[in-house]
Amino acid sequence: MVVAVEVGPVANPSANGRSDGRKVGRSLPPVIRVADLRKDYHLGSNVVHALRGVSLEVLPGEFVAIMGPSGSGKSTFMNLIGCLDRPTSGTYELDGLEVTRLRQNALADLRNRKLGFIFQGFNLLPRMDALGNVMLPMLYAGIPRRVRRERALAALRAVGLAGRERHRPSELSGGQQQRVAIARALVNGPSVILADEPTGNLDSRTSLEILAILQRLNQSGATIVLVTHEPDVAAHCSRIVVFKDGLVLSDRPVEQPRSAAATLAELAQTEEMVA
Ligand SMILES: Nc1ncnc2c1ncn2[C@@H]1O[C@H](COP(=O)(O)OP(=O)(O)OP(=O)(O)O)[C@@H](O)[C@H]1O
Ligand SMILES: [Mg+2]
Repeated sequence: MVVAVEVGPVANPSANGRSDGRKVGRSLPPVIRVADLRKDYHLGSNVVHALRGVSLEVLPGEFVAIMGPSGSGKSTFMNLIGCLDRPTSGTYELDGLEVTRLRQNALADLRNRKLGFIFQGFNLLPRMDALGNVMLPMLYAGIPRRVRRERALAALRAVGLAGRERHRPSELSGGQQQRVAIARALVNGPSVILADEPTGNLDSRTSLEILAILQRLNQSGATIVLVTHEPDVAAHCSRIVVFKDGLVLSDRPVEQPRSAAATLAELAQTEEMVA
């Protein structure tokens, strides 16, 4: 089923009113700017140099795929730009704010306000229904309950889950759970959505549906950084950055990003012809 996504009420405030997500605002300052980012992990007397000096800028409205072999530092990089961990050295500016020296509380607050996370394993709270899961980030942000509820309902509608608000994660399919996670990631109007292998646990059709939602969000202004192992997934993004051994190996634009919605429409047509 192809899902129509309307993202009006939860559109990204940093979109500057653009409706053409692919035309990145070259004159706008970067949302993410990292310089010479390094991360060492110490395991006993062993040191793993997970990131060895990564410098990268992400502009508003970009849809960046991070690729590279297992162990190349992709998740380490996402954890750092997600303010979930601190670098060993280097600088990181999020929306113009240098975050590497912020205290724990300020970091948590920044994370909640500026970043939306989507994980491979969905990471929903199992005892809460879809609505509760999506309302949660706004609770931390101190938003009144009535507003939280309205925004969460709008976000769930935006990802095609109207009617599923009262379902717990175990009562939803994998694709539906990932849509709840997307709604949750959107609901505070983040500057960036960070997705670490968001389609890794999904079949190819469901992956396309999730990609169609992400592309729609990107077209309405959301900046997205997505980790994937699959070239087919990366082909839907506007830029591909490849990591190797803790460094950026290559960084190139995708001239003609594939449209997940178009592929889904073709599939539906073929199925109709066969039926
Ligand atoms: N908490 C940790 N403690 C010690 N070493 C770690 C830790 N997390 C990651 N590493 C190491 O850092 C390196 C980079 O790991 P990372 O998880 O960033 O890779 P990745 O590119 O995300 O790989 P994958 O594609 O398998 O998810 C690896 O050598 C890994 O073993
Ligand atoms: Mg990883």
